[in-house]
Amino acid sequence: MCGIVGYIGTRKVVPILMEGLKRLEYRGYDSAGVVYFHDNKLIKHRAQGKLGNLERIIEDVLGVESHVGLGHTRWATHGAPTTENAHPHGDCNDDLVIVHNGIIENYQTLRSDLKKRGHIFRSETDTEVLAHLIEDHLDKDLVAAVRKALKKVKGSYAVGVLWKGQPDIIVAARNHSPLVIGIGNGDGTFLASDVPALLPYTRKVIFLEDKEIAVLSAEKWEVKNLDSGRKIKKQVQTITWDAGMAEKTGFKHFMLKEIYEQPQALLNTLRGRIDPQNGRIELPEIGLSEKYIKTLERIVLVACGTSWHAALVAKYWLEEWVGIPVEVDIGSEFRYRTLLLNNKVLTLSISQSGETADTLAGIKLASQLGSKVITICNVVGSTMTRQADATLYTHAGPEIGVASTKAFTSQLAALFLFASYLAQVRKTLPSNKIKQLGQAIIGLPTLLEENLPDLQKKIKAVAELFYDSRNFLFVGRGLNYPIALEGALKLKEISYIHAEGYAAGELKHGPIALIDKDMPILGLVPKDKVYEKSISNIEEIKARQGQLILIGSKGDRHLKKITEHVLYMPKAPSMMPELNPILFTIPAQLLAYEIATMRGCDVDQPRNLAKSVTVE
Ligand code: G6P
Repeated sequence: MCGIVGYIGTRKVVPILMEGLKRLEYRGYDSAGVVYFHDNKLIKHRAQGKLGNLERIIEDVLGVESHVGLGHTRWATHGAPTTENAHPHGDCNDDLVIVHNGIIENYQTLRSDLKKRGHIFRSETDTEVLAHLIEDHLDKDLVAAVRKALKKVKGSYAVGVLWKGQPDIIVAARNHSPLVIGIGNGDGTFLASDVPALLPYTRKVIFLEDKEIAVLSAEKWEVKNLDSGRKIKKQVQTITWDAGMAEKTGFKHFMLKEIYEQPQALLNTLRGRIDPQNGRIELPEIGLSEKYIKTLERIVLVACGTSWHAALVAKYWLEEWVGIPVEVDIGSEFRYRTLLLNNKVLTLSISQSGETADTLAGIKLASQLGSKVITICNVVGSTMTRQADATLYTHAGPEIGVASTKAFTSQLAALFLFASYLAQVRKTLPSNKIKQLGQAIIGLPTLLEENLPDLQKKIKAVAELFYDSRNFLFVGRGLNYPIALEGALKLKEISYIHAEGYAAGELKHGPIALIDKDMPILGLVPKDKVYEKSISNIEEIKARQGQLILIGSKGDRHLKKITEHVLYMPKAPSMMPELNPILFTIPAQLLAYEIATMRGCDVDQPRNLAKSVTVE
């Protein structure tokens, strides 16, 4: 949801800004812009649409002798995605510029006040209000003016500000939108919405907290409390991701690279958490005492998008293995309904980015009501990890493709461990079964690695037959029902084909009316305890001439009798159907990918979407 990048130091700034924006483009691609100091002037370049448009117009200034600047990539909220609405935005004379990620909720009141005071507006954005508001308070000290202005603002922001009067500093501040400072190796100071933009230059970072303001110069940085102005001692953290992790490394798209990275991502998430000797699950980082786990009465899972699908799978595991009631909520619903939470209810948020506004608001409420909050998250130091009582990290590495793939299967792995761990503590599963589950999931990465290339080839052949369909249904039962939802989401978000996921048993209550000879239906039918039921539902579809594509377990010859389009998945290690959701996600991801590329869609940056949704 908008990406910010900034730099001040000894290097030439424009290439740094452009490289940073490339790495943050997943956060929005409605327009992009940069600003830098040159000849004592602030020079702005902005372009509508993807970063490529900006790249074309700034080719000639890449080598410009400038060492201070800001960049922005936009996901439009207020105002259409035009060049006029692209950041950076300036004050009346463009002596001061700002880049912003977030929403200024009281911008209309502020805007009309400022207009009355003579300020001239040139865009429809809420951000421009900030530029004028700071101008209004500006005397000799940019930091003081930014502080005064932000005190009048309601809403969320991460901002970077430059002013002609103090060309040797960048002022940055945050409230509910992420911002990270990168400490260079003697070559300057960096600013970004997310760590991947900093990786080519440094791994030493400082995460800003809400209501903090930072002053960056070429040699140093300082963080203060926005309200009191008091200096804050910040911890410098070292990021272990390397720069290559945020590059395509030979793959045509980030999405495909990330699909292929799943075996490694799974392994990284599992590593060190299952004792190889006795199969015990070790999750000390969640900090829950045995007494607390044993007296727990309910678990509430909160998430959005793909992460919500991971939560739906976890409900099956938790209720079956731990025998504890589980509720699953979408962040934007959870935060506005009556919550019956207390200290006997554990709230678990699931988020790749750790910045999703609705999920964040949900866990804040849960904490206020006395519920303990744990987050399953992929981004170290993200807001959610700081807000929760504890974090169980997925170690999927940076995920750049907007459609989530490796983050999802890693979330499933983390949730699988979490559910097994609770079962271990509450003794609701025999230790032998826990050991078997652990051994099975540890075997999964190798199985996937061995089968991925062949699977892609087979899926491609199926995609060729169905890529021009207008609709698609995905059906599954039990543990694979959420995977049907996820398969449909993947397809619709990157190929723009209308797709729906359904619990196979629910088809007869409405959606079956959609089925005719032109409707492709992908059925997930592994050999599991609901297999027979699933097959009955599949037969109902066949009887109505739907075009069936079935994904089943290796050796299930019956499927071939139903349709010619059958894809076989290897049997889960130790034949554990509990692992099927992870396994059966892969063909659904690949199908969406192949269909989208055949339709010429921009797989990594689908229209209207952003990877990290930091607005309500
Ligand atoms: C956006 C992304 C989805 C993601 C969802 C939740 O909509 O496009 O891929 O699943 O946000 O994000 P989170 O970072 O909280 O998992």
